[in-house]
Amino acid sequence: MSLPKQVKIVEVGPRDGLQNEPSELTVATRVALIEALADAGLRTIEAGSFVSPKWVPQMAGSAEVFAALKPRAEVTYTALTPNLQGLEAALAAGVKEVAVFGAASEAFSQKNINCTIAESLARFEPVARAALDAGVAVRGYISCVVGCPYQGAIEPAAVASVAQQLLDMGCYEISLGDTVGVATPNRVTALLEPLQATISTRQLAVHFHDTYGQALANIYRALEMGVATVDSSVAGLGGCPYAAGASGNVATEEVVYLLNGLGIEHGVDLNALARAGAAISAQLNRPNGSKVGRALAG
Ligand code: HMG
Ligand code: MG
Repeated sequence: MSLPKQVKIVEVGPRDGLQNEPSELTVATRVALIEALADAGLRTIEAGSFVSPKWVPQMAGSAEVFAALKPRAEVTYTALTPNLQGLEAALAAGVKEVAVFGAASEAFSQKNINCTIAESLARFEPVARAALDAGVAVRGYISCVVGCPYQGAIEPAAVASVAQQLLDMGCYEISLGDTVGVATPNRVTALLEPLQATISTRQLAVHFHDTYGQALANIYRALEMGVATVDSSVAGLGGCPYAAGASGNVATEEVVYLLNGLGIEHGVDLNALARAGAAISAQLNRPNGSKVGRALAG
């Protein structure tokens, strides 16, 4: 298959990134980051998470973040909602797209959302139904699509089963999460091939963490296989609170640089994005996790 002409970047830094940073940022700083990302041309931005603040304190105040964002017709701000309680809070905050998040690994499901895979799917079904009834789109995440920090290698069939159930409940897209960043391109092929036998490639997104430095190679393989939606995080922020050692998502700056080199459209201004990445890294008092960001700043 040839490379896509256009790629949709889903910016997850303000959620997946910040949820694992040791510093808890103010609502104003989170909003400033999100506005800078929208100014840079990102059109889908995961802006927060309606989860238990006891589990993920960094995402407390997500309703205030949504309330403070300048409405922009061209930008979709999304949020994670693990249950009806989270969905109700998201709807009250005016969120227009939500995501449920399951796993292909039983052990990870327990650590992350405190229930089995089957229980999680049963819990997501009414969440998806209520969201769709409210005119809100639902994305489905699957964590540990290649490997699990507790369980080791994951079979593609386990991923396919969860993906189909998420689609059946009305998710418009499945984001395939390599939560611990262990995949290599051959594993990406082994994962995508069986999924593509039954699921339209347009409904698949890839979500690579870069723990072992393989994310860009994996994204390139996914692009070759026709996938045209890529999740990434400005400045490579974050990790996963329930996957020890997992580093941040692939940096959005790296994805944009790759797409520029390949002549694939994405709509993001790399310099403006790199400035947003430098600013949030300084704010968090951490080194910029994007090589492209560091090169442009140098
Ligand atoms: P639980 O303890 O089993 O739930 O948590 P519960 O229903 O028994 O409720 C316990 C308490 O949590 C109660 O409060 C509820 O009110 C409260 P208390 O009475 O003790 O004061 N609660 C909530 N509060 C706010 N918002 C809610 C909510 N629900 C219950 N929505 C639960 C179950 C799912 C809530 C919990 O495990 C949780 O919040 N987990 C957070 C998981 C999370 O955010 N993980 C990170 C995101 S996933 C990820 O990063 C992977 C991804 O990036 C893809 C990849 O890379 O693989 C997406
Ligand atoms: Mg993630």
